[in-house]
Amino acid sequence: PRRRIVFSGIQPTGTPHLGNFLGALQNWVKLQQDTSPNDILLFSIVGWHSLTLPQDPKRLSVARREMLAALLAVGLDPKRSTIFHQDENPHHTELSWVFNCITPVGKLRRMTTWKSRLATSRNANDESEVDESMLNTGLFTYPVLQAADILLYKATHVPVGEDQKQHIELARDIADTFNRQFSKTFPLPEYVATTTRRVLSLKDPASKMSKSSPDVSSRILLTDTEKEIRKKIRGAVTDSVTGVTYDPVNRPGTSNLLTILAACTNEDIYELAKRYEIKGHGDLKNDVADAVVKLLEQPRAEFERLQGEQEYLSQVAREGAERATAYSTLTMQEVRKSVGL
Ligand code: ADP
Ligand code: NA
Repeated sequence: PRRRIVFSGIQPTGTPHLGNFLGALQNWVKLQQDTSPNDILLFSIVGWHSLTLPQDPKRLSVARREMLAALLAVGLDPKRSTIFHQDENPHHTELSWVFNCITPVGKLRRMTTWKSRLATSRNANDESEVDESMLNTGLFTYPVLQAADILLYKATHVPVGEDQKQHIELARDIADTFNRQFSKTFPLPEYVATTTRRVLSLKDPASKMSKSSPDVSSRILLTDTEKEIRKKIRGAVTDSVTGVTYDPVNRPGTSNLLTILAACTNEDIYELAKRYEIKGHGDLKNDVADAVVKLLEQPRAEFERLQGEQEYLSQVAREGAERATAYSTLTMQEVRKSVGL
């Protein structure tokens, strides 16, 4: 079988949360265990992407370093996987420029991530008019940068949350366009669905749990203490229906707690829901809290230990960037030659 090249990324916009852990990081660690030693695994902390939203520079610089520690704390092994900062390999922005020049504006307008940004910035005077003047260009073109992140390494498999699926389609599209217009350079990357597709905000179950939400009680951080975890889960928004059922459309808050519990205990969600049918939200929340506390106990302790190992962390970053750049140098040579530069 063909060698797999796996690429995925995470933004250093804050401490990783339970959604990142269940939807992405845990699967990355599983891939490390399950793939053949010939397969190449790359995991990137994508700093350039975080600039699409306003960031406090001091905070970003701390979060950027902490993210590397978090990736190691959840079990990624820098000997097996190339773990690196996107901004330490200049080829990402280079290739994204080439891709910007072959991507129609109309295609980017169809991205649901862009459409949902627009939806929140409608013209106050005229509800029907979307106000693009309020949004920066980076927010519009970041799916192109994401395509460059992936294709730079000729990645074949991209394990990401469901929220990113459309962006992988775009990366395939861009790869295909480049291959036809210039020369056959890129394989078409495949989206790899993760087991837990989407963890929702504990405060607003209409949206996903996200680092960018201003309300930290909406997400459980990898660094939360047992007390903090229990408090946040107790405060999770559910509904006033008696009993517990798995009904994501009509009961998103309650169903989200079941999703989390099923993911923590590796249980089938419908079996799990059946067991809680005659119980109440109180029981469910207690059990979810127990399971999450147990799940995050080791990563949290390891994260704290690594905070005292700054020199080691710098060394991991340096070696990761060197390896990543070595892989992508070959791709960029091909790309430049193909386009005539
Ligand atoms: P965030 O949106 O919290 O800033 P990122 O954009 O850095 O997270 O995404 C990092 C990875 O985590 C991606 O693979 C993404 O699909 C996944 N992810 C993010 N939020 C969730 C969530 N709430 N549930 C499941 N997976 C998620
Ligand atoms: Na995001």
